[in-house]
Amino acid sequence: MEAIEMIKERRSVRKFKNEKVNRETMREIVDISRWAPSWGNFQVARYTFVDDETMIKQIASKGVNGFMYNVGILENAKNVAVLSFVKGKSGKLDKDEYATSKTNVWEVFDAGLACQTFCLAAHAKGIGTVIMGVIDDKSISKVVGLPEEETVAALMVYGYPDEQPSPTPRKDVDDIMRFAGE
Ligand SMILES: Cc1cc2nc3c(=O)[nH]c(=O)nc-3n(C[C@H](O)[C@H](O)[C@H](O)COP(=O)(O)O)c2cc1C
Repeated sequence: MEAIEMIKERRSVRKFKNEKVNRETMREIVDISRWAPSWGNFQVARYTFVDDETMIKQIASKGVNGFMYNVGILENAKNVAVLSFVKGKSGKLDKDEYATSKTNVWEVFDAGLACQTFCLAAHAKGIGTVIMGVIDDKSISKVVGLPEEETVAALMVYGYPDEQPSPTPRKDVDDIMRFAGE
């Protein structure tokens, strides 16, 4: 798939076929995703896949703050990915001190890059995704048993698309770019 086509045609998919995605496909997608850039090449992003029905139900009931829109998507989901990152590394040049006024914000930035790379890689492999930011990260950590040193960045529901969402609107180029000094 052409890179430009891939970027422009990826959509958030919220309706999936009633099918688990095989684990080898997810390995291939992570194999691509790991080429995302990261602060200091620390590669702090981690991917935890959930294809167990009971665990997905627990995420639906405890993990999205009761936000019904997300609960509805999760209730029909067969596959969920928890994107997490190892805390306290990105943003530092030496062991203790953060290098910029953004302190640890760079770890979330790294997670964002990993997230988009994952969604594009999945799209290229015919797998739809939707990122969920309305989440209760502590509850999700508990349900999936994340290691202590990690925190949840986002949930992603994924699967074989059962809808072809229309393009979502975008701001005009002139509304979002400028040349400094003009
Ligand atoms: C950080 C972030 C959080 C999001 N949270 C949710 C969410 O909780 N539930 C949901 O259905 N979509 C969520 N989305 C998807 C956006 O609504 C979607 O990306 C946007 O409307 C553009 O549509 P597109 O992805 O199809 O281009 C989120 C997207 C991002 C990047």
